[in-house]
Amino acid sequence: MDSHTLQQIETALFGFLPQGEYTEQKLIDAMKYSLEAGGKRVRPMLVTAFAVLCGGKVKNALPFACAVEMIHTYSLIHDDLPCMDNDDLRRGKPSNHKVFGEDTALLAGDALQTLAFEVLSSDQAAALAGEQACRRAVNTLAKYAGCLGMAGGQMIDLQSENTQVPLETVRELVRKKTSCLIQAACELGCISAGATEEQIRAASVYGESVGLAFQIQDDILDCTSTDEELGKPVGSDEENQKSTFVSLLGIEKCRELVEQYTAQAVAALSTFSGNTTPLAIFAMNLAKRRK
Ligand code: IPE
Ligand code: IPE
Ligand code: MG
Ligand code: MG
Ligand code: MG
Repeated sequence: MDSHTLQQIETALFGFLPQGEYTEQKLIDAMKYSLEAGGKRVRPMLVTAFAVLCGGKVKNALPFACAVEMIHTYSLIHDDLPCMDNDDLRRGKPSNHKVFGEDTALLAGDALQTLAFEVLSSDQAAALAGEQACRRAVNTLAKYAGCLGMAGGQMIDLQSENTQVPLETVRELVRKKTSCLIQAACELGCISAGATEEQIRAASVYGESVGLAFQIQDDILDCTSTDEELGKPVGSDEENQKSTFVSLLGIEKCRELVEQYTAQAVAALSTFSGNTTPLAIFAMNLAKRRK
């Protein structure tokens, strides 16, 4: 996945923020602050990659890609709040609430969430991807971000602090808090390109497995990396007494699981007749990531 696509995503992302000066400028500045450089843009890159795999164009998938990144960024702002993980560093910079205050950080998350759906349901998105695709995208992203998706996963994550939970519960919380948004990204890419139901299902399976591998790697890095390399505080999970794959199984077993879920993701690509190599390499690179 090339740097030109990444540049297109970055440009589109900032283009969707209100331009000019407003009375509530502090809110817009807070939204912009967290959207700005530092994020790996994994989810929007998945949107555009699946769009291309299904015969679509990057340009037509950009509103969908940006919408997923907005939801993801909102989830990080809220995840860092003192009432959640209480982390002061994000994307190599002070967390949103450290700069703008908890009240504004809360609103910045809220407003990024609604902006995502404003973008998906916009005339611009409809002109690029079609009305039907936009309706489906709104429904898909809302479900994956909602109470039985990412937000639900965050709930189970909080409920599993300071207590022993079975591996199945950890798997469920990871599948929801992390896989769901990654699945949404993969499915939205397909939807933007008018893919078949079979292709959307395969993209979803890829996303679920990549998501599991991605979060297990995140949990490994939380106890093996440094603040500088990771751009967020290491040791956060232990400090919050989180239930993670690492806390239950240990690092060595988790490294194996990252490999296994990555292999599962790559296998799911066999449904597609196009060139799946970029998405296979993407999954394998994520498994090796250091940040
Ligand atoms: C962090 O996601 C939250 C998890 C689901 C582990 P990323 O590692 O994709 O964060 P950014 O977007 O690169 O900052
Ligand atoms: C993923 O879990 C958080 C979200 C779904 C927002 P973490 O709490 O482990 O994410 P990081 O490590 O803070 O990025
Ligand atoms: Mg968290
Ligand atoms: Mg966190
Ligand atoms: Mg983490």
